[in-house]
Amino acid sequence: MAGPSICWSTFRTGIGDRSPLFAAIAAAHDVRTALYPGSYVDLAPSTAFPHTTYVDTDDHAARYFADEPLVRSELAERTTYAQHPRVDFVHADYTTDLPIEDGSFDLLISLFAGLVSDACRRYLRPGGLLLANSSHGDASVVALDSSWQLVAAVQTSAGGFELTDVGLRAYLRPKPGRAKTAEEIRRRGTGVAYTQSAFAYLFRLVG
Ligand SMILES: C[S@@+](CC[C@H](N)C(=O)[O-])C[C@H]1O[C@@H](n2cnc3c(N)ncnc32)[C@H](O)[C@@H]1O
Repeated sequence: MAGPSICWSTFRTGIGDRSPLFAAIAAAHDVRTALYPGSYVDLAPSTAFPHTTYVDTDDHAARYFADEPLVRSELAERTTYAQHPRVDFVHADYTTDLPIEDGSFDLLISLFAGLVSDACRRYLRPGGLLLANSSHGDASVVALDSSWQLVAAVQTSAGGFELTDVGLRAYLRPKPGRAKTAEEIRRRGTGVAYTQSAFAYLFRLVG
């Protein structure tokens, strides 16, 4: 197999480094295990969480995560916990049955990769967290489901990312005439336009 053509550092130059986002989550919540379906090569969660499982169908991502020395070197001096990082990769469609135990993760990550929460909430432990944005509609579907409770909004700031739990009622309120049902959101694969939006939202599984 040829070596990876893309790695986390090249990915970061395009979309930026999300390590501060995951550091903010780790500072506020007890998260040790994270599941990241549709991760591509975004290794940032492993800087904050000792065990992260990445899932993607993409061959570049598979090649990258198979190169353990490269992954290790990209994480060197960047982790914020004492343990040796455990980085797992599953080369699969996250809508299929994954070789992962149900109820085994503290955090599910859904960023720009479709309706991850529909397919993968089963892998989250009771009371576990979901980080989701609304670009493909995931946060918008979750906002309509009473088994999820919004616990924080993620705002971008000059220094990176900030979690806020103040004034949460103002978020996820559709602009006039822009409300959609969960079925519409799923069918169109796009989120709802909100009066006050955030980069992403942190929800807790309560139901
Ligand atoms: C736009 S990229 C987003 C990557 C990263 N999450 C980010 O925020 O930049 C979407 C990724 O999700 C993956 N993806 C989309 N649907 C998937 C599925 N059903 N199963 C596994 N991976 C999927 C794609 O292969 C791609 O790598």
